[in-house]
Amino acid sequence: MEATPDFSALRAHAARLADTSLKQLIADDPARASDYALRVGPLYANFARQRYDRAALDALFALAEDARVTTAVRALFDGVVVNSTEGRAALHTALRSDLSQTPVARAAHGEAMAALTRMRALVATLHGSGVTDIVSVGIGGSDLGPRLVVDALQDPSSTALRLHFLSNVDGAAVQRTIASLDPARTAVVLISKTFGTQETLLNGAILRNWLGDDIRLYAVSANVERAAAFGVAPERILPMWDWVGGRYSLWSAVGFPIALALGMDRFEQLLAGAAEMDAHVLAAPLRDNLAVWHALTAIWNRNALGRGNQAVLSYDERLKLLPNFLQQLVMESLGKSVHLDGSPVTEASVPVWWGGIGTDVQHSFFQALHQGTEIVPADFIGVIRADHPHPGNHQALLANLLAQTEALANGQGSDDPHRIYPGDRPSTLLLLDALTPHGLGMLLALYEHSVYVQSVLWGVNAFDQFGVELGKQVANRLLPAVRGESVDVADPVTRVLLGQINRDR
Ligand code: F6P
Repeated sequence: MEATPDFSALRAHAARLADTSLKQLIADDPARASDYALRVGPLYANFARQRYDRAALDALFALAEDARVTTAVRALFDGVVVNSTEGRAALHTALRSDLSQTPVARAAHGEAMAALTRMRALVATLHGSGVTDIVSVGIGGSDLGPRLVVDALQDPSSTALRLHFLSNVDGAAVQRTIASLDPARTAVVLISKTFGTQETLLNGAILRNWLGDDIRLYAVSANVERAAAFGVAPERILPMWDWVGGRYSLWSAVGFPIALALGMDRFEQLLAGAAEMDAHVLAAPLRDNLAVWHALTAIWNRNALGRGNQAVLSYDERLKLLPNFLQQLVMESLGKSVHLDGSPVTEASVPVWWGGIGTDVQHSFFQALHQGTEIVPADFIGVIRADHPHPGNHQALLANLLAQTEALANGQGSDDPHRIYPGDRPSTLLLLDALTPHGLGMLLALYEHSVYVQSVLWGVNAFDQFGVELGKQVANRLLPAVRGESVDVADPVTRVLLGQINRDR
C-alpha cells in the first residue's frame, strides 16, 4: 500500500498560526517580503503573502525531502516510466531540453529535434503558398496550449497567417469558423495524438470535404496510420509520441499552429524559455527551486488550510486563456483519487482551479474573494513592461494588481459589518519582465513542473486521465438513441431525457 503522505506536521503549524493574521505574520517578519521570493531569469515570484511562516516552510521543505522530490524530478528528465498505469515515460522536457544522458531521453530529444526540422520546412512551405488562414482542429491538449500561445503572442497587426481554433463538437463552432473563410486560401491542421477523438474526427471530416481536396490538409499525430487513412498525405503528417502527454505537448509538433502564427524562430524562443525553467528545476536545491516552492504552497493551502479552490488571475489581456490551459494541465493531471499503486487517496488532493483576467474580474467575482465565506488562494500574474503605447493604462493595471494582492491579504476593519474586509486571503505574485515567447515558455514550464512535484507529494499519477473515458463511452452508446434508432436504454433518467429530445420525431 502506498503510504498516504503525512500532513500532520503541516496541520500542527496551521493550528499554531490560526490566530495570527497574514498581516501580522508579515509585520512580525518584514524580511519575508524579500526572503520569500525567487527570480529565475525574467520570471520573479513572491510568496510573502501566503499564510505560512518560516517554521511552517521548514516543515514543507522537509516533506519535499521525505518525498524524494529531487530524485523524482531527475526521474522525469531521465525518461523513467513515471506514468506507470500506462507504462510510459513523460518526456516533455526532451522536446525542448537536452539535460539527460539516458538513452531513452537522448533518443526522445533526437526525435523531437528531427520533427522540428520537418516542421520548419512545412512552415516555410505554407508561408510561401498564398494560404492566408489556418484552421487548427483539436481539443484538450491538442488545442489549449497552441490556442493560448497564439492568442498571447500573435501581433494582431501582422500580415502573417491568421489562425482559427476549432475544438467543440458543436456544429455551430465549425459553421462559425468556416463562415468567413475561403477554402482555396485556407489550410487545415488536424491535431490529435490518438487520431481517435470524436470531436476532431467529426470536425476534421467536415473541413476535409469543405476544402475540396487534401492538398492543404495537414496532421499532427502519434498515430500516423490513422491520419493517413483519414486522407492526410504522409509528407504532411508531423509526428507525436506516446511519451508526451497531450496537456504537456505544446512544445512538440502540436505547436505547429504556434510556429505558423509566430514564425519558427519565435516558437524556438518559447522552447528556449521552457528549457531555462527545466535547467533551473533540475539543478536548483529544494529551497531555491521555484517549482518546488510553488508546489509546496499548493500543498499548504490544500492540506494544511483545507482550501478547495485555487484561482489564477492574469493581469495581462494577452494571457486571458491561461486559466483555461491551466485547468486541463492541473485538473486532468492531479484529479485522481488513488495513489500510483491503486490505494485510495485519503487526503484532499487537487482543488478546483478557475480564474479570469484582471481587471475585468475585479468587477465580477472579486466581491466574493474579498468578503465571501470561501477563502480562495490565488496566483496573480503580471507583466512589468507593456508592449503598447498606452503607459497610463499599464500603470493603472499594475496598480490594480498590487492593490488587490495587498487588500486581499491585509483587509480593513470597520464599525459597519458590511464594510469589513476580513483579509487573510493568500496569494502568490508571478511577475514577468515582459511577455516574450521566452518568458511565456518559462511560465508554462513552471506550472508543468509544479504540477509534477504536487503529484509526487500526493503520490498520484500526473500523466494518465482515465476519468475522461467513461463519459466518452456512454456518449458513443447513446448516439444511436439520439439519432432516433430504437435501442435499449437502461438508465431511466436518460430514457426520459431522450424522450424529450426525440419528442418531435
Ligand atoms: O479527453 C481528454 C483527452 O484525452 C486529453 O487528455 C487530450 O489532450 C485530448 O483528449 C485530445 O486527445 P487527442 O490529442 O488524442 O485527440
